[in-house]
Amino acid sequence: MPPACDFVVFGGTGDLALRKLLPALYLRDLEGQLPDTTRVIGVSHSPLDDENYRSDVRRALLEHVPTGSFDEAAVDRLLARLHHVRLDFTDPADWHLLHGLLKRHDPGDANPVRVFYLAVSQSLFGTICQRLDELGVVDDHARVVMEKPIGRDLESAREVNDAVGAVFDETQIFRIDHYLGKESVQNLLVTRFANTFLEPVWNAHWIDHVQITVAESLGVGDRGGYYDTAGAMRDMVQNHLLQLLCLVAMEPPTVASREDVRDEKLKVLKALKPMNPDDVDRATVRGVYAQGLVDGAPVPSYADDVPASDGRTESYVALKAEVNNWRWKGVPFYLRTGKRMDRRVSEIVVVFKKPPHAMFPHSEGAHEPNRLHIHLQPDEGMRMHMTAKEPGPGGIRLRPVSLDLSYAATFDQRLPEAYERLLMNVIRGNPTLFMRRDEVEAAWTWVEPILHRWAASPDRPKKYAAGTTGPTAAATLLERDGRAWQESD
Ligand code: BG6
Repeated sequence: MPPACDFVVFGGTGDLALRKLLPALYLRDLEGQLPDTTRVIGVSHSPLDDENYRSDVRRALLEHVPTGSFDEAAVDRLLARLHHVRLDFTDPADWHLLHGLLKRHDPGDANPVRVFYLAVSQSLFGTICQRLDELGVVDDHARVVMEKPIGRDLESAREVNDAVGAVFDETQIFRIDHYLGKESVQNLLVTRFANTFLEPVWNAHWIDHVQITVAESLGVGDRGGYYDTAGAMRDMVQNHLLQLLCLVAMEPPTVASREDVRDEKLKVLKALKPMNPDDVDRATVRGVYAQGLVDGAPVPSYADDVPASDGRTESYVALKAEVNNWRWKGVPFYLRTGKRMDRRVSEIVVVFKKPPHAMFPHSEGAHEPNRLHIHLQPDEGMRMHMTAKEPGPGGIRLRPVSLDLSYAATFDQRLPEAYERLLMNVIRGNPTLFMRRDEVEAAWTWVEPILHRWAASPDRPKKYAAGTTGPTAAATLLERDGRAWQESD
């Protein structure tokens, strides 16, 4: 059983809290993982009392918890844990309300864990941490959680890290990249390192290239204000896609826990070949969605979704990265991510080299290279594309076939949401699935020259119709190398 805790959410009435954090806590509570004395404290500007807050959260749970997991008794149990504190984060006088509530934790728990989840603008992180420190509520059992992106470049990331690091020790800081909590992303590590058949071929001798795609069919929705200051590079590539790249490319850690995994990921980030301006022009593509059809329905353009945009924000990125180390020298990693694509799919495709010798030169049929498709979402699973002989008495005829692993068909159980795993790891104090400061800064170090070049360029992101696979320049990026994007089947 995890320790009892006070889980304090700054931004407790916000979208993240209502859509992800509280449903995740509810689902863990449903599984009996929250001790009786655990409390969840939402902090926000809203003048809500506990009862109003509980009603809002009940509505959110109804909307965001899978129907089969909605249980009235469990909902009531979670609601009874909830409190709301109204405070103006910048007004020192308001903080005594929170202080009073924290001091009233059940005296039966000698050292309750205090989790401070910062689901608010990063500009407030420093102030909030400072106030918590002044109140004397940051002890060895306290933890602070921050959402990505941390900063908007290397310098601002350092500022945020310094401000939070002035109060919390690095071991108490949990930087969330929710992709690391996804079931299928966890399985990537197990697939690579709990099996023997892949590792000997997992290198430049046998792998031609790797593709990582995170495509969304949704647009920016009502997050335009934030998104327009970020764009796909800061919102997705700097964190989610680079983290996935790290998990594909890293060396086997000694144990799959704590610093070992993070040390190995850091080495990959540091091995990424830096891009100079010419590389950026050649190896990156920016796009922005125009009007189009998604699932047969017309959808507006990015400019319609975010009228205040100056037209320089990208909602799509494709790029070619290289990992300059012994294992991966010469193997391109093609990454792409975009909003308003033809469908929602996150997938890693590892394309192997052709056999060194063609033993069936006179056979009929296609002889495609092997490909391992790792489907992260939706429909978690894996598919190995290989070549088989088509049955028949005549000559050899080759046919592409696949070996399939579907999570849903293999494991008859609900796959936990990423936040369920991550929040429990925060409460338990296990930082393995969180980004360490040096990882975040190494990722910015690689991304920053790309952002600078784009900012200095007179070109704007290329338009692509919503509901498509992105700008044609992204296809050209691979065609130039004699390759093509593998669209998931
Ligand atoms: C978030 C981004 O981190 O990830 C969003 O800020 C994006 O823009 C989301 O939509 C995608 O997450 P998922 O889990 O739906 O693939």
